[in-house]
Amino acid sequence: MKICIIYHSETGTTRHVAQHLASACTDVRLIEVYDRAYYVPLTRFMSRCKKAQGEETTPIEPASIDVSGYDLIVLGSPVWAFKPTPVIHAAILALKGCEGKPVIGFFCHGGMPGSSEETFTTWCEGRTMQVRGTMTIHKKEIENEKKTKEILTMVSAATRA
Ligand SMILES: Cc1cc2nc3c(=O)[nH]c(=O)nc-3n(C[C@H](O)[C@H](O)[C@H](O)COP(=O)(O)O)c2cc1C
Repeated sequence: MKICIIYHSETGTTRHVAQHLASACTDVRLIEVYDRAYYVPLTRFMSRCKKAQGEETTPIEPASIDVSGYDLIVLGSPVWAFKPTPVIHAAILALKGCEGKPVIGFFCHGGMPGSSEETFTTWCEGRTMQVRGTMTIHKKEIENEKKTKEILTMVSAATRA
């Protein structure tokens, strides 16, 4: 079972979870996706919230992600304005060969995950992926053994299905 973990992270929380997950799996590829847009420093926070709230996308690097050789896709995103980030929205649209494949999403947040799981599910279903599980992780919980186990259980259940 080949797993492709794709994530966006600005301050390291989501990266930490993605790397931990990758280290616990065997046949896995880890891809970090970056925002290529420029934001004016003074209005950076608000501009990104506005983009996220409007479920917009943004130019990303890599611009295209081929997942045709993988059996399971895992996507990780910070929560911005109660939703997954424009980077992860763009990444979902940039997937090649994802149709019909199982997908899991995890969302790192600061206490208000909002509708991140529902929004993610809608985006993935729009690409005809099968959502096998979603979970939110408070940034204070990234070292929490219970949470870590929860996501690993979700991944191993999806690999067995
Ligand atoms: C632009 C922006 C918007 C955010 N909006 C939310 C939010 O709506 N709810 C929340 O709980 N945390 C919010 N946060 C906090 C992040 O979700 C949290 O710090 C997360 O762990 C960051 O992940 P990262 O370290 O992988 O970048 C926001 C952070 C930023 C920069």
